Amino acid sequence: MNKEEYIEKAEEELVHTYNRYPLVLDRGEGVYLYDTDGNKYLDFAAGIAVQAFGYGKKEYNDALKNQIDKVMHTSNFYYNVPTIQAAERILRASGMDRVFFTNSGAEAIEGAIKSAKKYAYTRDGHAGHEIISMNHSFHGRTIGAVSITGNEHYREPFEPLMPGVKFAEFNNLESVKALITDKTCAIIFEPVQGEGGIYPATEEFMKGVRELCDEHDILLILDEIQCGMGRTGEMFAWQNYGVKPDIMTSAKALGCGVPVGAFLMTEHVAEKSLAPGDHGTTYGGNPFIGAAVNTVLELMEKEKITDHVKEIAPYLEKRLDELVTKYDFLTARRGMGLMQGLVCEMPVSKVSAEALKEGLIVITAGANVLRFVPPLIIEKEHVDEMIEKLSKVFDKMKPELFKVAK
Ligand SMILES: Cc1ncc(COP(=O)(O)O)c(C=O)c1O
Repeated sequence: MNKEEYIEKAEEELVHTYNRYPLVLDRGEGVYLYDTDGNKYLDFAAGIAVQAFGYGKKEYNDALKNQIDKVMHTSNFYYNVPTIQAAERILRASGMDRVFFTNSGAEAIEGAIKSAKKYAYTRDGHAGHEIISMNHSFHGRTIGAVSITGNEHYREPFEPLMPGVKFAEFNNLESVKALITDKTCAIIFEPVQGEGGIYPATEEFMKGVRELCDEHDILLILDEIQCGMGRTGEMFAWQNYGVKPDIMTSAKALGCGVPVGAFLMTEHVAEKSLAPGDHGTTYGGNPFIGAAVNTVLELMEKEKITDHVKEIAPYLEKRLDELVTKYDFLTARRGMGLMQGLVCEMPVSKVSAEALKEGLIVITAGANVLRFVPPLIIEKEHVDEMIEKLSKVFDKMKPELFKVAK
């Protein structure tokens, strides 16, 4: 079948939940993807912040193949070695005390919500607790996760959702303070908001919320699903701020392509939280998943991935800043490490569509932010190649389309 036929068939078969780009991707190598027509694309999206090592990493692929030949799944009625090893590594990397492996990011969020509610239930002897989340946040598409997602558009069709959720202004401590009641059991946010437009938390906000939580025995949940796993130059973004959450979530690059998520908690939370019968999943933490997570973490440690991010990210920032200076329709760059956004005075979906024609994969975050979440292994030459391709796109697009307003 040719590309058009594949696309036509997909549009007939799959539930129409995505407006996809007209691209049928076939294979990957390093930081490049190839479509079924053999066209090559420089990938600055990494499958939405997933493929930390890019594509075709031999040690990772070999570890998965070995585990497939040994055993893939046994159920959570029994222990398995790869998951015990993976747990040890993620606890060491995060400084948390306990971990539960899930099948996705949204499911990790569900687990985090349940953990917080159970903690408050045990402490107070009754249910009915509330959660404070942030406007413009994104935590996933399941009912619990969408209930705490600060985007009306995602929530409205599915109401009534989980009750007891309030939304504060991100990076506005007073707005959080105003929502706290004696029912509040948790405050949740992304240390760097991803889908909401690449907004890092300010240090003042991060530390201020931590203090509020300590004052009121409220649990701080940090969602590291997009910003975690080395992307900001520390293993988890919150480690840049010198505060620690009570519960955190991870996913995406945790599996580097194998579907896995995790929620982690301190021992203090675990003592009052989930007990046998409270939570479970068939696939979560099976030997195959364990091997994937264990290998990802082992390779990140061995290859000092966070050092590499610290080294390369300032170069990406510098080159993106040059674009902001050069093009009037670009109004700002913001982000942390290899999670960067360029703010455009026009709908950026057109930019990312045009970029494909230049052989560049770059995605969006909201209507006017171009999002850069490349594989963590990129080098300066890849940054230069990306800037060259993107500049061609910007040069080609007529300035009047951008309604210049700088
Ligand atoms: C910050 C954040 N939380 C949660 C999720 C949901 O993860 P998943 O798509 O694996 O369910 C995402 C996905 O983009 C995310 O960026």
